[in-house]
Amino acid sequence: MSSQVVLSARGLVKKFGGVTAVNNVSFDVSSGEVFCIVGPNGAGKTTTLRIIAGILEPDSGDILAFGGKVQWGSIEYKRLISYLPEDAGVYKNLTGLDYLKFMASMYFDDSASIEEAVERGVKLSGLGVRVGDKAGGYSKGMKRRLLLAAALMVNPKLAILDEPTAGLDVVHSVDMRKVILGYVKTTGSSAIVSSHNMLEVSYVCDRVALINKGVIVDVGTPGELLEKYKVPNLEEAFIKAVGGLD
Ligand SMILES: Nc1ncnc2c1ncn2[C@@H]1O[C@H](COP(=O)(O)OP(=O)(O)O)[C@@H](O)[C@H]1O
Ligand SMILES: [Mg+2]
Repeated sequence: MSSQVVLSARGLVKKFGGVTAVNNVSFDVSSGEVFCIVGPNGAGKTTTLRIIAGILEPDSGDILAFGGKVQWGSIEYKRLISYLPEDAGVYKNLTGLDYLKFMASMYFDDSASIEEAVERGVKLSGLGVRVGDKAGGYSKGMKRRLLLAAALMVNPKLAILDEPTAGLDVVHSVDMRKVILGYVKTTGSSAIVSSHNMLEVSYVCDRVALINKGVIVDVGTPGELLEKYKVPNLEEAFIKAVGGLD
């Protein structure tokens, strides 16, 4: 499968009052690629992903995706993507299974597609028999995995995942990364993943965009960035890319 660009962000700008949260952000995401946006808290990751997810309208800039310019509010575009927000929660009183059924029915109209999606979701969740328990009793790791399963079970061409591993222990983080990588590499779909943890991303990201104060300061494979800055890890690459600590 030869890879092609499925999404281009072109010159995205978003201001909140006097703060320029996203400042002329451009990048390309290819098919079969996990593209990561990595930077400290407040760098503009969530704002960028909300724009890409069609939740937040940019002040300027365009998104080109799947062969055309995305019009604001396009339903066709939203049917090709899925979005896991940073602060997403589960419904405490629904079982994991009912949550997956509910989310699948929001996305698909026909019962066969809903059933197939739920079947994929149950597998992706890794919850086993616990999928029948109320989500309020799940651990944080189980909840995040359920939310990730819901985002991937609909077979999006592009999964937009905002800090999927934030706050998880190492075991659950590794699980999440495996599920994301497995999805992208088996389907040829793509994922945009944000993280403030610069040390974990080498394991899941094909390419990394380093973002600071709303600006992408560099993009490359983890290996390319380490080579370019002659450093042993991406945290140090980031510090060099931004010209040292403030
Ligand atoms: N809805 C909002 N209203 C005002 N300021 C916002 C809003 N969303 C984000 N910001 C500001 O924009 C900047 C980037 O935030 P964000 O995109 O959430 O960064 P990150 O996800 O990298 O932590 C921050 O300074 C944040 O305070
Ligand atoms: Mg964020």
